[in-house]
Amino acid sequence: MDRNPVIEMMGRRLRLAVIGGGPGSFIGAMHRTAATLDDRFEVVAGAISSDPDRSRAAGVVIGLARDRSYGDGLELLKAEASRDDGADAVAIMTPNDTHHLYSLAALDLGFDVICDKPITNTLDEALDVVHKVRQTGLIFCLTHNYTGYPMVRQARAMVNDGQLGEIRLVQVEYVQGGKAAENDPDPADGLPWRYDPVRGGPSLVMGDIGSHAHNLARFITGLEVSEVSAEIGAIVPDRLVHDYGAAMLRFDNGARGSFWVTQAAAGVENCLRIRVSGTLGSLEWEQEKPTALIFKPTTGPAEVRTPNGPGTLPLSALATRIVSGHPEGFHEAFANLYSDAAEAIAARRSASMPNPLALHFPNEIDGAIGVKFVDAAMASSAAGGVWTSALLDI
Ligand SMILES: NC(=O)c1ccc[n+]([C@@H]2O[C@H](COP(=O)([O-])OP(=O)(O)OC[C@H]3O[C@@H](n4cnc5c(N)ncnc54)[C@H](O)[C@@H]3O)[C@@H](O)[C@H]2O)c1
Repeated sequence: MDRNPVIEMMGRRLRLAVIGGGPGSFIGAMHRTAATLDDRFEVVAGAISSDPDRSRAAGVVIGLARDRSYGDGLELLKAEASRDDGADAVAIMTPNDTHHLYSLAALDLGFDVICDKPITNTLDEALDVVHKVRQTGLIFCLTHNYTGYPMVRQARAMVNDGQLGEIRLVQVEYVQGGKAAENDPDPADGLPWRYDPVRGGPSLVMGDIGSHAHNLARFITGLEVSEVSAEIGAIVPDRLVHDYGAAMLRFDNGARGSFWVTQAAAGVENCLRIRVSGTLGSLEWEQEKPTALIFKPTTGPAEVRTPNGPGTLPLSALATRIVSGHPEGFHEAFANLYSDAAEAIAARRSASMPNPLALHFPNEIDGAIGVKFVDAAMASSAAGGVWTSALLDI
């Protein structure tokens, strides 16, 4: 990452406004750090909390100018759109039910958008965003951040390179333990937005982490899930929202898959794992040990691929900042999405050509396909696990 293509194309950093991610949010600080890691964005404005007074005060605390620390996301968009030095792009990291509102408003006012997952809570809303992006020609990056890991990109590149042959089997699991306690959520804290289906979406576990697992399988294999047979529900007694989902998958090339997600596996931290098997070998990767990609070819002993190590393919090399043996992690993977989106945005704004390898970040179409998968899995589960189409014609 010796070059800064944004400075080369624009003569300056891109100006970013953030909506959401205020006090108490884990992902808010992550977005802001990721945006600035490679010096392609500067955060110039924000509406970072739901309460207007708290939002204005919290924006100043993170270093925003007082006149660009707004009380409300829509107020921010209008004000920034009317400034000569206004934001170029907007990053949205608010609760799920507001992604649709802020994405459409931002695109309507000419901002490129970086939005956290899930893109929206309903398929109709997701399609609204897809159509708006098409109509405006603006960039939309969806932060399925696990796709930013160098070894995930190496896996994608190896599959695309034919090193695994024809893909036949995919096993993906995303297992967490944060919601294993029977008294979660604590009634004394009120109902957090995630537990309210109107705000959090129709399925808590599928919106929170099932969307990531589905996206990761698609990203690495380049395949689409064509049909799903699922059981989605609550494993913690008396819980009204979903905390686990299990599914068999059929992919569009005939490959078969398994999908297992839960937030109620006591003691487990953030275990996102995937195994992809083809006719020539298998790949294995897990998020808690992100710098090791295990390759088991049929023709020889197992190999460990590492960031910038031997056998690194160009898509992976672009996602790695330092020499091999120096671990990069969650922050850097998240930053890779921002840096790629920045290159795409700068290229669009300066009528230049981006590096094609920078265009692998998830977008609005990936988001809509993810919402369709959640809908299909829920419909399958409600019908006792019948195979249900997950294909989206867009
Ligand atoms: N990519 C990831 O790995 C990842 C991880 C965690 C959360 N997320 C996503 O990030 C989003 C937020 O989740 P979270 O865990 O930060 O939630 P959270 O409840 O911890 O924090 C939300 C923050 O946004 C603020 N907020 C709420 N409504 C707002 C509004 N209308 N305008 C401005 N600010 C507002 C709140 O005050 C709070 O500071 C969700 O869409 C979630 O799915 C993604």
